[in-house]
Amino acid sequence: MDFTTRYCGLTLKNPLIASASPLTAELASAQQLEAAGIGALILPSLFEEAVQADPQQLPSYLDRIRRYKDALSIPVIGSLNGITEGGWLEQAAQLEQSGCDALELNIYYIAASVQESSDNIERRYIDLVYKLRSHIGIPVSVKLTHQFSSIAHLVKRLEDTGIDGVVLFNRFYLPDIDLDTLTITPTLHLSTSDEALLRIRWIAILREQVKLSLAATGGFHEPADILKALLVGADAVQLCSVLFQRGVDEVGRLLRGMEEWMQTKGYASVDDVRGKMSYGHLADPSAYERSNYISVIERNS
Ligand SMILES: Cc1cc2nc3c(=O)[nH]c(=O)nc-3n(C[C@H](O)[C@H](O)[C@H](O)COP(=O)(O)O)c2cc1C
Repeated sequence: MDFTTRYCGLTLKNPLIASASPLTAELASAQQLEAAGIGALILPSLFEEAVQADPQQLPSYLDRIRRYKDALSIPVIGSLNGITEGGWLEQAAQLEQSGCDALELNIYYIAASVQESSDNIERRYIDLVYKLRSHIGIPVSVKLTHQFSSIAHLVKRLEDTGIDGVVLFNRFYLPDIDLDTLTITPTLHLSTSDEALLRIRWIAILREQVKLSLAATGGFHEPADILKALLVGADAVQLCSVLFQRGVDEVGRLLRGMEEWMQTKGYASVDDVRGKMSYGHLADPSAYERSNYISVIERNS
C-alpha cells in the first residue's frame, strides 16, 4: 500500500503525524513513535510566556530539535504557541536555523473582551502570520480553533499570506470549578472519536476552496476516523489522545486498519482515497450544510 503523503511541502511516508504534546517531548518517545511507523512529529509548543519567564527555554528547545534531527529520519516540526509578535519572529528564525523541517503556529487566544471585534482579532492573526511567513523560509502551518464566525474566509486569508497549511482544530482546555474548595481548576479531558466529525466537515467544505495543506487534529482514534478525513481531502491527520490512551504502538494498528479498508475498496494509495468525498465531489453537497441539519431534526422528531 502506498501511504506516501505530501504535507506542507514535505514528503511523509504516511499521513499520520504525532501532534504537539508531551509524547513528543523526549527523544526516547520520539524514537518509539518513529519505530511504530509515525509519518512525522511535532514537538510540544514553545510557549511565548515560558520564554519570557525563562530565556533558557529557547536554547534548550533548539538543542532538542538538533538532537531529534540527528537521531530521526522522519520530518520534525517545531511549534510556537503565543498571541503576540513579541519574540516570535526571532524565535522562528532560530528554530529554522536549528534544522526543523517546518513550523506550526498555535495562536491560542481567548477573545474574552466585549470591546474586541472579530475583524480585529482576525486581522491580528493575519498580520502576525504574514510577518512570520516573510521572515522564514521553511514551511509554516497554523493551528486554529473552530471558534470563528467565518472559518472558511479566515483560512483563505491565511492562505493568501503564503503559509503552507492549516491544522483544524485546536481543542480548548476548559476551566472547571471545584465545589469543595471554590477554586478554578484547569481540566484536561482526552478526546473521543465524536470530535472528529467537526474537523471532517470543515475539511470537506474547505478542500476545493483552498490549495494549502489541510491537517486534521482532534478526535482521531480509529482507522475509520482517519479514512473519513482523507476521503474529504485531509492531507494529514494528527494523533494525540489515542496515543496517550493506547500507547504509541497504536500507530501500527491504525495503519493496518487503514490498509485493510483500502484493499477491500481497491485503493492502491492514499492519493486515490484523498478528496473522494469532499464537498465538490458529492452529488448532494448539502449533506455538509444546513438542509442536512433540518432533515436530521425532522427525522428524529
Ligand atoms: C497533554 C497535552 C498537551 C498538549 N500540548 C500541546 C502543545 O504544546 N501545543 C499544541 O499545539 N497542542 C498541544 N496539545 C493539543 C494536541 O496537539 C492536539 O491538537 C489535541 O489534543 C487534539 O487532538 P486529539 O484529539 O488527538 O488529542 C496538547 C494536548 C494534550 C492532551
